[in-house]
Amino acid sequence: MPWSMKSSSRVFRGCRILVGFLFLASAWVLPAQQTYNEPWRPQFHFTPPKNFMNDPNGLVFYKGEYHLFYQYNPQGTEWGHMSWGHAVSRDMLHWKNLPLAIAEVPGQYMIYSGSAVVDWHNASGLCATADSGDSSCLIAVYTAAGANIQRQHLAFSNDRGRTWKEYAGNPIADLKQPDFRDPKVFWYEVQKKWVMVAVLADERKAVFFDSRDLRNWTFRSSFAIESNDKGQWECPDLFRLPVDGDSRNKKWVLIVNRNPGAPAGGTGTRYFVGSFDGAHFVNETPAGGELWADYGKDFYATNSFSDLPEKDGRRIWIGWISNWQYANREPTAIWRGAQSLPRELGLAQFPDGIRLVQKPIAEAKALRERAFLELSNVSVPMAIEAMHVANVRGEALEIEAEFSGEAKEIGFRLRKGGNEETLLGFTPENKEVFVDRTRSGLVSFAPEFSGRYKAILRQNSRLRLHAFLDRSSLEVFVNDGELVLTDRIYPSPGSDEIELYSDRGTGKVHSLSIWKLGSTWH
Ligand code: FRU
Repeated sequence: MPWSMKSSSRVFRGCRILVGFLFLASAWVLPAQQTYNEPWRPQFHFTPPKNFMNDPNGLVFYKGEYHLFYQYNPQGTEWGHMSWGHAVSRDMLHWKNLPLAIAEVPGQYMIYSGSAVVDWHNASGLCATADSGDSSCLIAVYTAAGANIQRQHLAFSNDRGRTWKEYAGNPIADLKQPDFRDPKVFWYEVQKKWVMVAVLADERKAVFFDSRDLRNWTFRSSFAIESNDKGQWECPDLFRLPVDGDSRNKKWVLIVNRNPGAPAGGTGTRYFVGSFDGAHFVNETPAGGELWADYGKDFYATNSFSDLPEKDGRRIWIGWISNWQYANREPTAIWRGAQSLPRELGLAQFPDGIRLVQKPIAEAKALRERAFLELSNVSVPMAIEAMHVANVRGEALEIEAEFSGEAKEIGFRLRKGGNEETLLGFTPENKEVFVDRTRSGLVSFAPEFSGRYKAILRQNSRLRLHAFLDRSSLEVFVNDGELVLTDRIYPSPGSDEIELYSDRGTGKVHSLSIWKLGSTWH
């Protein structure tokens, strides 16, 4: 072998060794993010690297980072040993996994759901003062869940959430009850104080406290509704939003996550619209009509971000995309549980009242890798043909569509292949929009999983859909978010076709755009 070749092959071998070393080193330094490519692993939704996750907790923005804490079992793929897992992001889409934030205290209590706020001016006295003079810190308030007793605890972090110390004076709130949990804390500017809303879960009661220093809390009132309700209220939230963007007309929204009793069965997110004076919530939603944030089967235990910059002005929340009916049996390996796309919340006035509306955060546009097609004003057969020609298929897609029509049913067959398909459809006659996952792929792992989940539209003349399809989930925002449906699906990897269809009649496609979405993990 001539010298030059010998040396270049040595260089080549050297490079290979270096690349191999870098690969191993990165796998060692970043064990948490090494694959994210397992079957059904969502590509643009948050999932933990391994083990079981449920509720999002402590969503807060601080010093340029969005924090997502979450209910986490560090030891296994089913619920247990609950602790707070942790990830941070600069856009709420690309997440960096961090070590466990708050761990259970074995034999004493687990760390259940809760919230986090920025203590900007050290009202708690728990923040350290940095050389820069900054004396803010992060405060987490969560439920210490012991055997037959649930109390609220506080922990604080002086290093941007990287490490946490339990406050020595815990508990900060104790009603001596076994079901007192899920504190959500926020700053109430009008009276310059902190407010906490928590629940007495089994009594289906929201309870309100206030505090000047985040450590000493005073009970103010409780809220419940007269009904034959059974089950529990969990993970409350309370925030104020403008109606139709009018800052002179704002209403308070009280969120309660209800277990079970949701429209699709099992767990779901319910809300009330009303007023709040710093101590009492007054429901202004007429009795009888129950308001739900999502009509799919998999949206629960919501939490909204605290301390988004004032100039941002948005209220954004995330929900856990599962259902307690089968959360421990979802068929993924290694990890179990996923979070929704972050959604921006609003209120809108409709003839039947003021309602919550949701849309995907604007940042989600950056997920678009390429457009398969963008059509306007075509017939359904023409759109079907155009989709065929563009070879639209994939596991991670965004669809925006607007239809009207005389058809009995019009919609999409998603994740189609073999005998599998997930239907996202509209039946104008009865104003239904629905997701049907009965033939979506693997459904047999739980009897409650398979089904067709629907929501009723206010009109049947036009339907606007904005859908996000990931490897094992479908989120659909209908008519600018006046209705939302979120459902997990477990199709075979090869089932990646998508088709438009109309049954008995045709329809008009006013617009249709479909994008391939990129992965936030690779
Ligand atoms: C809701 C919930 C909360 C509780 C947590 C425990 O899914 O039951 O009420 O704090 O999960 O993991």
